[in-house]
Order: sequence, then structure tokens, then C-alpha cells
Amino acid sequence: MQLNGRTALEPAEVAGERLEPGDFVTVLIAGANRDPARFPDAEVLDIGRADNAPVSFGSGIHHCLGAALARMEGEVVFTSLLRRFSTIEATVDEPERRPTLVLRGLASLPVRLAA
Ligand code: HEM
Repeated sequence: MQLNGRTALEPAEVAGERLEPGDFVTVLIAGANRDPARFPDAEVLDIGRADNAPVSFGSGIHHCLGAALARMEGEVVFTSLLRRFSTIEATVDEPERRPTLVLRGLASLPVRLAA
């Protein structure tokens, strides 16, 4: 999920901006995950980053109910692929993106697998 939205229920101040009840705020999850004020090397894809607290699955009372399942699925897929194939190479330089904004992602990612 790339972005999300919230409606203010009471007056609040966020990042110096005053919010009144009813104001709608769009929050960029992907932006928070690479916030240079939070991560010194925010633009680096570092899967071993120790001090990490991504908000990819949201937070608070609406934290993703499927987070554990999604993480497990990812672990099974990547562990199985890496166990079975020694190299996994993308066969296109610029994969095609889906024409969506909120659920951003690729339409496909053709790869070449070698045992
Ligand atoms: C990589 C996969 C996934 C990502 C990145 C993701 C991301 C998110 C995010 C950011 C939210 C918070 C929405 C908000 O705060 O308004 C959310 C909520 C939710 N997700 Fe996921 N999700 C994933 C997979 C799943 C799966 C597999 C399920 C179910 C099997 C699921 C079920 C839900 C439900 C029911 C909520 C609503 C929770 C609530 O509002 O209390 N998600 N998800």
C-alpha cells in the first residue's frame, strides 16, 4: 500500500499544520518508510537494516490483520526460490507498472532462473 487517508476527528497539529475536525489527510506510507529524518541512508534498500520500524503494514488499531500471513508468504516464496535456484535475473530493464496508485506494484516481473 503506497498511501492511505485519515479524517481528523478533533483539532490537531501535524508537522506544523493545523487540522480541524473533518479535514482529510493523505499519508504517504512509502514516504515514511524512506524518511531521511528517520533513516540516515533512507534511499538505500537495506534488507539487513537493524534499527528499522517500517510502517508498511500500518500501525495502531488498524495495523494490518494479515501482516503475519503476508510475512510468512514472503518468507516461503523467497526461501523456496533461493534454495532451488542459484541465480534469479530480471530479463527487462524497466518492468511494467500497474496503473494504480494506492496498491502500487508491478504488472509483471519476468525473470530468468538458473539451477
Ligand atoms: C504485503 C501485503 C500487505 C500489505 C503491505 C498490507 C498493508 C496494510 C496496511 C498499510 C493496512 C492499514 C490500513 C489503514 O491503516 O487504514 C492494512 C490493513 C489491513 N490488512 Fe493488510 N496488507 C497486506 C496483506 C494483507 C493480507 C494478506 C490480509 C488478509 C489475509 C490483510 C488484511 C488486512 C485487513 C483486514 C486490514 C484492516 C485492519 C483494520 O482496519 O483494523 N492484509 N494492511
